[in-house]
Amino acid sequence: MDGRKLLRHFSQAENLDAEGTLKILVCGGGNGAHCMAALASSREHVEVRVLTLYKDEAERWTKALNEEDMTISITYSDEHTEDKKSRPSLVTKDPAEAAAGIHMIFFTVPAFAHKQYLDAISEHVLDNTLLIGMPGQAGFEFQAVEALKGKAKKCAIASFESLPWACRTVEFGRHVQLLGFKESLCAAILTGSESNLTKSSLDVIQFIFGDDPQFDVIDNYVAINLMAKSIIHPPLMYGRWGKYNGEILEEKPLFYQGVDETQAALLSKVSDEVVMTAKVIQDKRKNDMSKVIHILDWYRIYYCHEISDHSCLKNAMQTNKAYDGLLHPMKPVDESGKRFVPDFNYRYLKEDVPYGLVVMKGIAEIAGVDTPTIDTIIEWAQKQLNKEYIVAKHLTGKDLSETRAPQVYGFKTLDDLFHI
Ligand code: NAI
Repeated sequence: MDGRKLLRHFSQAENLDAEGTLKILVCGGGNGAHCMAALASSREHVEVRVLTLYKDEAERWTKALNEEDMTISITYSDEHTEDKKSRPSLVTKDPAEAAAGIHMIFFTVPAFAHKQYLDAISEHVLDNTLLIGMPGQAGFEFQAVEALKGKAKKCAIASFESLPWACRTVEFGRHVQLLGFKESLCAAILTGSESNLTKSSLDVIQFIFGDDPQFDVIDNYVAINLMAKSIIHPPLMYGRWGKYNGEILEEKPLFYQGVDETQAALLSKVSDEVVMTAKVIQDKRKNDMSKVIHILDWYRIYYCHEISDHSCLKNAMQTNKAYDGLLHPMKPVDESGKRFVPDFNYRYLKEDVPYGLVVMKGIAEIAGVDTPTIDTIIEWAQKQLNKEYIVAKHLTGKDLSETRAPQVYGFKTLDDLFHI
């Protein structure tokens, strides 16, 4: 791939500098932000800055960089590994310093932190900037358009259905492991009516990431909202802990590879409700929603080589190598480190319900589709989170405004949704 040519193409945005350096900003300080910052910094003609607003992360990351470059350890699909050294040019908690002259802004944080970054950055965003939810999770576009106000029509907002990799920070600011690439990944882009950016601006992101995963730019952002992988964790949590009565466990159960028939059936039903929502939207509006597929089909495509038994959802999850050893989120009850209770405040509910299931429920409600399984899971999860999003299956709970349901942003009809 000819990176220089692609970068010139991106210069339609008219804010590429004289040397042709693409300047990108990564928002966040967790696993994904480490991976993104280290990988993108290793590309020629790409300058990477990091904005992290959380606690003392900017100071700690800067201190680490003062001592040595970052290492990214990459495991490729043929299982060979490679260590690369690279460094972002700046890590800061100052949004003005971070955003000066930036062409692309990646939001690589759990969705509950998106608003904080969008609010901090929006006054510094230049015309023709591409903002990317990586992943967007459901409702990213609603929140970004609201935060950007009038600037939204001069920019473009993209979101990816998931993170392109499985990754873990090994040592903060110093070492990150890219454990595996997804085989392909869908993205959607909303281009503002007064922006120079086009769908092919996403080619530049493909250049930054390299050959894997292959990006597939799909027709519309409503589909990508229904493709968010936030549907996976809440049904598995509900299936495992729905009847939990407070007992203490001496081991953390396997999260994905421990999936049983009940959990798999719940996830399958949630997925059916989401696919039905997409079908009804396609019938009513003729927008292409064909990429919204059942979760089992998704596993068969996206984890094709990692899964050894594709016969049913339970077996596919149990035999997915990418899930080796991943455990339920648990917290210790004492200092022994050997007695645990489930952690319902972990992002599997805290992120995936208000920025996932509730948004999908909102889109389904607008499309006129019933979602009995999603409703049951939201009702259970909101109790664990001490929130109220739905009341008697309706999106009228007192904490609904903390979610990204389309109703929060005033969308009432499918036409509203498609004319954001
Ligand atoms: P993470 O759990 O590593 O993120 C932690 C970071 O988020 C912290 O370092 C901090 O910068 C920020 N943060 C945490 N609490 C905060 C708060 N209260 N206020 C403000 N900022 C806060 O998340 P990770 O792994 O980087 O994931 C990012 C996104 O990618 C999430 O949506 C996740 O679901 C998704 N994802 C991650 C995968 C992975 O392999 N890490 C795989 C697939 C999706």
